[in-house]
Amino acid sequence: MPKSNASDLVIHDSAAVSPPDDSLGNKQFYVHYHQVDNNRVVHGSRTFELINFEWDKPYQIVKLDRDSGALRIPKKTYHRSVSCDSGSIVINQSERDDLFQAKKEFKPVSIVKNEKLANILKTVKPLIVKI
Ligand SMILES: [Fe+2]
Repeated sequence: MPKSNASDLVIHDSAAVSPPDDSLGNKQFYVHYHQVDNNRVVHGSRTFELINFEWDKPYQIVKLDRDSGALRIPKKTYHRSVSCDSGSIVINQSERDDLFQAKKEFKPVSIVKNEKLANILKTVKPLIVKI
């Protein structure tokens, strides 16, 4: 059973990236170990880049708009998202387990700090998923 559920509204008013690139312009990703994200776009569109080392297709790109269902992002999935030029609003109804700690779960990981992640981005062709 999850310890708690959270509902966060994330608003981008332009083509923002979450998490933002690092100071040298390298991509960064979030990865959660005690939270499952359930993202639904309520305005605009948002493209999610997902990398999970345990998946058969470890690199997937999912574009969400108002007509899409919710995107469920399992634990241990590196993820980042980019809004369309006019921005987007996403509601994340996340599920957190007993070990959830905000300061550990929302620390961006730069691709320069994770060789495996960088290698997948360099060598794997992404699977484009429509939901
Ligand atoms: Fe997340």
